[in-house]
Amino acid sequence: MSEKKRAVVGSDHAGIAGRKRAVETLRSLGYEVEELGPDEGESADYPDLAHQVASRIEGGQASTGVLVCGTGQGMAMAANRHPGVRAAVITDEFTAEMSRGHNNANVACFGERVVGVAQIAELLTKFLGTEFEGGRHARRVDKIEPSVPERS
Ligand code: RB5
Repeated sequence: MSEKKRAVVGSDHAGIAGRKRAVETLRSLGYEVEELGPDEGESADYPDLAHQVASRIEGGQASTGVLVCGTGQGMAMAANRHPGVRAAVITDEFTAEMSRGHNNANVACFGERVVGVAQIAELLTKFLGTEFEGGRHARRVDKIEPSVPERS
């Protein structure tokens, strides 16, 4: 039997409903999901959750991350400080597809105040269903990490 794919989902207080919808979406697609973040009525600082999720991707405990805050922006900024993490702010179907196909994104960031909860489920499904295209895009993705010496 093949192992379940593992995902980790986090949010701050501005993304709780979207986080819960993302967890449902991932589980319905067969993922084993770890959920991190505040309960309704609690507040949380978005970088704390971004670092918790990104650490699990960096350490290999999960292959896919999802982060939800008000805009998705702060989450992506913090998550992208971690080696091996490629966090993309997803705003529409095109960015959902391209961030996987061309950038091999492994963390999807959503702004619940930007796209809304229902769209998070749709865009996440598109993100998860899109394969990295490899080829010339693999060369470019390899150059994202600052440790790669050849940049010409
Ligand atoms: C919280 O009010 C808000 O600043 C946060 O959720 C996010 O949008 C930051 O990027």
